Formats: sequence, structure tokens, C-alpha cells
Amino acid sequence: MQSKANELSNILDLWFAKSTDPLIIKQMSMKWSFFLIKDIIEIIQIYMFLKSINLLNYRNYQELFLELNNQKLIILGDNSQGKTNLLEVVQILSLGKSKRASKDAQLVNFDADNAVIHAKVDKGLGEELAIALMIRKSGRRTLKINEVTKKPSDITHKIYTVSFMVDDLHMVAGSPSERRDWLDSILRQLNIQYKDVYAKFEKALSQRNSFIKSLVEQGVYFPNLNDSHREQLSIWNEMFIEAANTVTKYRKALIQELNPVIASHYKNISGKEDALEVSYAGTELQEADLDKRLRVDFIRSYTTLGPHRDDISFVLKSHNAGDFASQGEKRSIVLASKLSEIDLLKAKHNIRPILLLDDVLAELDESRQDHLLDAVDSDTQVIITTTHLGKHLQKWSENAQIINIKSGEIVEKALLGV
Ligand SMILES: Nc1ncnc2c1ncn2[C@@H]1O[C@H](COP(=O)(O)OP(=O)(O)OP(=O)(O)O)[C@@H](O)[C@H]1O
Ligand SMILES: [Mg+2]
Repeated sequence: MQSKANELSNILDLWFAKSTDPLIIKQMSMKWSFFLIKDIIEIIQIYMFLKSINLLNYRNYQELFLELNNQKLIILGDNSQGKTNLLEVVQILSLGKSKRASKDAQLVNFDADNAVIHAKVDKGLGEELAIALMIRKSGRRTLKINEVTKKPSDITHKIYTVSFMVDDLHMVAGSPSERRDWLDSILRQLNIQYKDVYAKFEKALSQRNSFIKSLVEQGVYFPNLNDSHREQLSIWNEMFIEAANTVTKYRKALIQELNPVIASHYKNISGKEDALEVSYAGTELQEADLDKRLRVDFIRSYTTLGPHRDDISFVLKSHNAGDFASQGEKRSIVLASKLSEIDLLKAKHNIRPILLLDDVLAELDESRQDHLLDAVDSDTQVIITTTHLGKHLQKWSENAQIINIKSGEIVEKALLGV
């Protein structure tokens, strides 16, 4: 894609340089504008390359300067050296948060007060984004993009990623929250507005919870609610239901889009006709649904119904895969779900997301490794961590950039075969 972008940029240069006659310029503009605008949009939308990552006091990295010079980067290192920490940085750059840290303080080096991430992203046609994010132990963040101060939440939708971590392999039979997080992280990248939709829901949930808790603290329980309590509760209910149902609608719409894609990937991976689908166990709420749960909600001082509790399951051959699928089938399901994520991002944003593979290849057999690596076309940027270059990866990684990480430092840069 870079060559396509360069080519177009050259055509444009030539075109503008040679067109001196106003009439010719006008005719040329009319003739070329449609094609060029279409092409430019295509290139701007598709092209994205993470060029560099510089870190200061990020987890076990005191200082790191990394230039990425190839679509394929392999981060090699023993256990606990900082491989996943580096992938986590790319996750933060795309999602705004790490999938494994619940608090920003965890991201800052034990001996420092703040961490800094600097990254450069090539967006094609000479456009470059310089992202500078300061993360403080206090939780306050500062973000600059091309030297301009932005809201910290503006970090999202600059780069897109699909990550496949060893922990994801437990997603099928793991807790419902893992599957909800998976679905929500896809939605966050697919829909710029989902972040606000979810934030609105969380606010409504927390307001309803606070109200219930405040009554419980006053010794007021469900059967003793007076008219004024009920009236106030119904205001919180209304806001909660509206926000909750919007989240549910987004999730269900995504599942509808996802299902044919995931089914087809699963068939390819398994080589069987076994039908796989994602199923959503929640429904859109009405006030009566909340009323039925009031007793339980007051006992727990917490809203026990809604998208924060809904389960999502993988249904294989009409049964919940979490309950009966073999380890191999579970791996195939997760692999199919990751490949579907890539497809959806490509289809929706016309973007090839950066694929982050954390130690996962060693967990897959050769045929599943093939399915994963085959999905990576030449325009996709891939970052892989591994403790060793197995035979399979070694073959795939010809000409890849390989760095060796030890105790949060690059100890050796190498190009395979050189
Ligand atoms: N805030 C922090 N400050 C300093 N060190 C940290 C911080 N958070 C994590 N670490 C350390 O960073 C080291 C590297 O962690 P990381 O998860 O990146 O290892 P890894 O190379 O992926 O190892 P593995 O192969 O076992 O997955 C660990 O020893 C961890 O204790
Ligand atoms: Mg790791």
C-alpha cells in the first residue's frame, strides 16, 4: 500500500507541476477528480503503519527507542523480560486502555511517578501522527497528537488492533465478563460512538446503584418503599433502561454481522461442516423486568440485570461450547473469532488492523498456525512475541524485523537470515 500511496503522490506531483493552462487544468480536474478522490480516500483509509515506539518508565522499560522497519516484527525474549508489556503499549495506543491493567498506576515503573509513550504512525500520503501520552500513577493522563493537546480519550481510532493473547484461549469457557469485554472491544473499534454509548450506560448504572445503596443505608428495603422512593427509582430506571437497551442493540447488531463470518472461518479451520454461532443471552429491558428483580437488587445493593450481566456464548453444533467443546475446538473457536475481528475491521473501516500475537503461536498446532499466519496479508502489520523461533515461525518470518528483549531493553536487533 505504501507503494500505491507513493505512486499516487507522484502522479499528483506531476499532474500539478505540468498543468499550467487553466483550461487544461479544469478539464483534467473533471476527468481525474473522481478517480483521484476515490483512490485518495481508499489509501487514507487503508494505510496505517506504526513506525516507532519510544518509552520512558513504562512498566519494566526505563527507556526504549524502537523503530519498526518491517510489516512483521518479532519480539523475542525469555519469560518476564517485557515482551507483553510492549504489546500492551500498542493496545493502549489503539483502545486507550490495556486489557490486563485495571489501573493506570500499574503501567508506571515501580520507581517512577509517570510513564511516557511516544509513538509515530504513518497514515500514508505523507501524513504522520506523533502521539505522546503521559500516564501518571495518580491516574491523570495527558495526550498530545502532533504537539496539540487533546482529551486523553481522543487516543482511540488513530490505530486499530486485533490482539490474540494466550489468555484469550480461555475465552470460550471463561467468565461471561471475558466474552463481554471481547465483544465490547470490537464495538469500540468499529463504532466511534460506542465508547460514549457505554459510558452513558455505566453512568446510569452507577446512579441507580447509588440510589439503591443510599436507601439500604437508611434501612429502607424493597418491600418498604414509599411513593416518593418509587417515583425517584422510576426516574433512575428510565435512564438505565434507555442506556442499557442502546448497549444491547449495538451488541446484538454486531453479533448479527459477526455470525456468518465466524461460521465460515470455523468451517475452514476445523475442516468440518460444524455450525458455530455467537449467541447473546440478554434481552432489551422494560421496567417490569427491573421490578421483578427489585428484591434481589436491594439485598445486594446492586443492579443485577442488564448488559453488565448478560452472557454471550459460543454455540457449536447447537450446544454451548463452553460446556462441552474439546480444547482443540475451543482453540479453533477463538481463532475463528479473531480472524472475524480482522475481517469486520477491514469491511467496516477498510483498514487492516495491526495484529498483536502474544505467545499464542506456540499454543496452536501447525494447521491452526497456518490459518492465522495465512490471514496476514502483505499489507498487514503484525507484532508477535515469542520465547523462541519455532520452525514454523522461522519460515514465516523471513525478512521480519526481530528484536531481542532482556530486562526491558533491546539487547540485539537482527534480521533473520542476515
Ligand atoms: N509497573 C511496573 N514496574 C516495573 N516492572 C514491572 C511493572 N509491571 C510489570 N513489571 C515487570 O515487567 C516484567 C515483564 O513483564 P511481561 O509481562 O512483559 O513479560 P513477558 O516478557 O511477556 O514474559 P512471559 O514470557 O512470561 O509472558 C515482569 O517481570 C513484571 O514483573
Ligand atoms: Mg508475556
